[in-house]
Amino acid sequence: MSEKTDRPLHKQDTVRSPDEKSMESIDISPGTVIGEYRIVSKIGKGGMGIVYKAYQESLERYVAVKVLKTNLSQMSNYLQQFQYEARSAAQLRHPNIVQIYGIGEHHDIHYFIMELVPGKTLKEIIQEKHQSPVKSGRLIPVYDALEMILQVAGGLHFAHESGFLHRDIKPANIIKDDKTQRMMIADFGLSRPVMTKKESLLGSMTGTPPFMAPEIFLGKPWTKSTDIYALGATLFNMLTARPLHESNNLKSLIHKIVNEKPPPAHGFNRDVPEEISAVIRKCTEKKPSDRYGTVDDFIKDIRLFLNEGRTHAFEFYSLKEPALKTSSEKEEENIYDPSKEKIKRRKITSLIIGASFMVAFIISSLLYQDYRNIAHGRAYCRKKLQDAKNLSRMGRTDMALSFLQDICNKFPDTPYAEDARRMMAELKAPKKEKETEGTNEPAVDSQ
Ligand SMILES: Nc1ncnc2c1ncn2[C@@H]1O[C@H](COP(=O)(O)OP(=O)(O)OP(=O)(O)O)[C@@H](O)[C@H]1O
Ligand SMILES: [Mg+2]
Repeated sequence: MSEKTDRPLHKQDTVRSPDEKSMESIDISPGTVIGEYRIVSKIGKGGMGIVYKAYQESLERYVAVKVLKTNLSQMSNYLQQFQYEARSAAQLRHPNIVQIYGIGEHHDIHYFIMELVPGKTLKEIIQEKHQSPVKSGRLIPVYDALEMILQVAGGLHFAHESGFLHRDIKPANIIKDDKTQRMMIADFGLSRPVMTKKESLLGSMTGTPPFMAPEIFLGKPWTKSTDIYALGATLFNMLTARPLHESNNLKSLIHKIVNEKPPPAHGFNRDVPEEISAVIRKCTEKKPSDRYGTVDDFIKDIRLFLNEGRTHAFEFYSLKEPALKTSSEKEEENIYDPSKEKIKRRKITSLIIGASFMVAFIISSLLYQDYRNIAHGRAYCRKKLQDAKNLSRMGRTDMALSFLQDICNKFPDTPYAEDARRMMAELKAPKKEKETEGTNEPAVDSQ
């Protein structure tokens, strides 16, 4: 290690800006000592400063040290608030919150010390996935994303219950611990400078607009609800690898955040159930009062989805907008399923067979009816012919003739009608003969 890097920090060593114009960033060489922390390496750089891995001799542990940008350090109001909030946040202990160990000042350099979390930020995880050569693996799987956001929400809810707001929930402030696999919220207690309405609209202050609620751009204060908005925007980003609102121009981006309805997550990722898109929508409503009342309500809705496949948010919007259908209903309508197609074909075939049977049954019933009528007609005619014969034998010729006439009328084109006509002729003929001979008895009647 060089002589320079092993000695304590001096102002002229440390305030070395890579950007000579702004003098905003502070680059500290490895080995430099600030307070009781020896800088080991630079971890990353954000909007408010640079984060270093450092070693704390007294407690023999590695920590993360965030050194604030010089322009922030020069804002006395902000410094007071930062010191107050960081000190209070140091009391926050939760398995999903990066613990703050303390704050410090060294030669006008302001920094805070926190638990060192080995791992990647959610922002890095989303970006790495998105660059994957395998198209199907370019997004975090939905259920993994839900499990992750539940952890984040658990930490955020605990903080809210303890009286803290985060004010900058976003994927870059969530680190997945390589060792424990836990999602850790970083930067709690690192309050942001309060923006004036003009600064907000010009985007001149630090911040991450895509995760910021509309009211912030209108100069309203941060509330639990603004953190809930950021939580929903983070979930959207995890599921789609896109920001909730997009624009290459900051002014138009802010205009969209304030005025436009964000697109649903399932529009960019077909794996996202509409029930979850509705949860994001509920978090990111323009009016804070339309969002979930607490982070716990958000947690309960995600859990409801994981347990029962439904969410209160979706049910709420479905009632408001009846055109909404559950994803399962839509799936049933839209998705081609060969087995369903088979069932459909079978149903049609059974219908055709059923209808054919019905037609056959009707035809055969008619035929049977006809057959029965014919059979019945035959019996009727035979009986009537026999009766007519008996009646003529008994001398009841008129009645016999009326029976025979009845056969001729009812079954005119049948052999029975012919028989009836022949008998009628016979019955009438002897009568004529007898009339001429002076006899009144027909021949048949006498037997
Ligand atoms: N406690 C920590 N342990 C380990 N690495 C950390 C810790 N805090 C931050 N980092 C790393 O340092 C990087 C920079 O963090 P920083 O908070 O400065 O950036 P940012 O979140 O993008 O911006 P900002 O929070 O200022 O808006 C992060 O991307 C992360 O990789
Ligand atoms: Mg950060």
